[in-house]
Amino acid sequence: MNLKGKVAVVTGGNSGIGAAIVLELAKQGANIVIDYISHEEATDALEKKVFALGDQAIGVNANVSKIADLQKLIDTTVQKFGRIDIMINNAGVETRTSILDTTEADYEKVLEINLKSAFFGTQIAAKQMIKQGGGGRIINITSVHEDWPMPGNIAYCLSKGGMRMLTRTAALELAKHGILVTGVGPGAVATPINLVTMKDPALMKRLNDAIPLGRMAKPEEIASVVAFLASNGASYMTGTTLFADGGMMHQSPGL
Ligand SMILES: NC(=O)c1ccc[n+]([C@@H]2O[C@H](COP(=O)([O-])OP(=O)(O)OC[C@H]3O[C@@H](n4cnc5c(N)ncnc54)[C@H](O)[C@@H]3O)[C@@H](O)[C@H]2O)c1
Repeated sequence: MNLKGKVAVVTGGNSGIGAAIVLELAKQGANIVIDYISHEEATDALEKKVFALGDQAIGVNANVSKIADLQKLIDTTVQKFGRIDIMINNAGVETRTSILDTTEADYEKVLEINLKSAFFGTQIAAKQMIKQGGGGRIINITSVHEDWPMPGNIAYCLSKGGMRMLTRTAALELAKHGILVTGVGPGAVATPINLVTMKDPALMKRLNDAIPLGRMAKPEEIASVVAFLASNGASYMTGTTLFADGGMMHQSPGL
């Protein structure tokens, strides 16, 4: 796996899975644009780690639920590095609300940050890839919940289900340009999005018991799958999601 000289943008890139993707792609030789919305100090620290790996990195403060900010993100990438080869739509949030208690504000927040951002992130990155020529990779960080219902987290499931069809449909539309669109669907990963569960031993036990491998993933175990999809080794993969879930989606009910 060698991404020497490639330019990658990672949305929501300064924490959790995004930060692990930044470091894994940098280890493979890519220069990185780290999109972030808060915690500038975490972005600065990550930039230093990328420099230490021998690559370049810049942080861009952009709210990916706004199209103008996404355009700024890609424009800044091109100004700094001259091109974009890999777009990782990673930023995401959840509200943990059900069909009966999700407010309009909850719905809009989750759908805009998770799905609208991936839709227009794909569109704007693809336009630049077509303009520069040579194809590219767009990788959407979805979830097992692109397919697997999660009662009590309905807007999140809706957004990830939408990303599934975004991945498949955009892959068909962009294939003629050599742009490959894929998804990575994690199960449960030890990141800030799961802090409530991680702080509760009883919840952690229930979760671990539901995962055939018996534990949450480390963010690095998701980043390595993303790096594969960005690499030459995945040159015939498009329109599909690779799940990295410790067997969670296929768990047996224990009968
Ligand atoms: N952790 C898990 O168990 C898990 C499982 C499946 C999928 N995922 C997905 O992985 C992705 C990363 O999540 P994570 O687990 O690393 O959690 P995280 O909370 O560490 O990361 C989410 C990132 O998105 C950023 N973000 C939120 N709103 C934004 C906005 N408007 N503009 C730009 N950035 C914004 C946050 O600042 C944060 O850096 C998400 O899409 C999440 O749905 C996570």
